[in-house]
Amino acid sequence: KPKAVRGSIFFLTDDPGSKSDPQDCYEYYEDGILVLRDDGHILDVGPSTQTKAKHKLLANEIADYSGRLVIPGFIDTHIHYPQAEIIAAYGEQLVHWLEKYAYPAESRFADRSYAQAVSRFFLHELLRNGTTTALIFGSVHKISIDALFSEAEKLNLRIIGGKVMMDRNAPENLLDTPETTNADNEALIATWHNKGRIQYAITPRFAITSSPAQLSVAARLYHARDDLYLHTHVAENLHEIALTQQLYPSAKSYLHVYDDFGLVGSRSLFAHGIHLTEDEFNLLAEKQAALSFCPTSNLFLGSGLFNFNKAYQKNILLGIGTDIGAGTSFSMFQTMNEAYKVVQLLRSTHQPIQSENEAHLTPFKAFYLTTLGAARALYLDNKLGSFQPGKEGDFIILNLEATPLLQFRMLHTQSLSERLFVLMMLADDRVVEAVYIMGRHCYGHGADASY
Ligand code: GUN
Ligand code: FE
Repeated sequence: KPKAVRGSIFFLTDDPGSKSDPQDCYEYYEDGILVLRDDGHILDVGPSTQTKAKHKLLANEIADYSGRLVIPGFIDTHIHYPQAEIIAAYGEQLVHWLEKYAYPAESRFADRSYAQAVSRFFLHELLRNGTTTALIFGSVHKISIDALFSEAEKLNLRIIGGKVMMDRNAPENLLDTPETTNADNEALIATWHNKGRIQYAITPRFAITSSPAQLSVAARLYHARDDLYLHTHVAENLHEIALTQQLYPSAKSYLHVYDDFGLVGSRSLFAHGIHLTEDEFNLLAEKQAALSFCPTSNLFLGSGLFNFNKAYQKNILLGIGTDIGAGTSFSMFQTMNEAYKVVQLLRSTHQPIQSENEAHLTPFKAFYLTTLGAARALYLDNKLGSFQPGKEGDFIILNLEATPLLQFRMLHTQSLSERLFVLMMLADDRVVEAVYIMGRHCYGHGADASY
């Protein structure tokens, strides 16, 4: 384990939308050193010569990545691990896509050894893409999450996940009941929550597949302690919204279905939120609940354009999610790429006249939403998202010249902001040269053999 890492070091320190000058929201050391404690937390960060002298670092204690960019690991705020095998499944929109592809895939996770093999593949795919933390859906099977957490524990990853709860409107073999889900969730929480770096999320799939009795169980579990997450979907697709209204006719809105059961609060995260009303945005803001913007999935399923502008104006806690398997890439670079294009489309359709407070997805904002902003949305910003001393040492090493096109394009960039933007448009897993988890080199050339 190196005591320090040398390279070009970049991280956000605040929301770039919150200050008039984005320079006040990040730190960048062209030639910097990141110093780690023995236990893998961040000790210090600063310019190379000064920091080396300050900590009396010897050359052989420093992993030298000069010329590479060192940033905090990406955080994916919404992803389904049992859906890795159905990425790029042709032709359907949400409800039919679930029936034709997602449910059959998820039914295979009744088999522990299958779940274990996919967990291994899935977590390594996250790492290869520079994603070091994710909020993850399992399948309905308790063992799907047991398998995922067992593998995540071996890698010492900070992973948040939960078994899906669903007790109606899905194939018989994928249904639990309010009673079995209660017992399974309690057992999973007792075994896994806060074990090492693992955390548990109560995960009702969405209102359509949960009876009122089951949402009551979800609420009781979520409120039984103050450090559990609540993870679900909301307002993704117009057909889904209409069905939800039929099933919960007395609710004021889709989000109010959840709120009526007490499921909207801190550490609750709602994926998509494409068709939320003003009222629902206000409710999220008031309850300090978070949204996950999933651009590749929203485009792939034809669900709609997330109202990024509104989320920013309302100051909603926000992260970006791949939503694999409806999403089409594990790469947060490719996800930022499509997020940028969605915001571009929103500008032309919703706001023909450019306005002062229009939100742009600047490169600084995009990298904020995939690191520190996501950590805030997950109430983990005391642990993740930047290189502030005391935080956990999860970081990635990027080669900005990993492909001929990147190499050529980077020659024609002048500023950090331009380089970040080119990365978010053109980069993918090929630029991720190494990944460190709690200061340990766990992916890339020369990685710790125990991984
Ligand atoms: N809504 C309910 N379940 C799902 C799912 O698996 N994927 C997506 N994209 N939306 C959902
Ligand atoms: Fe999803």
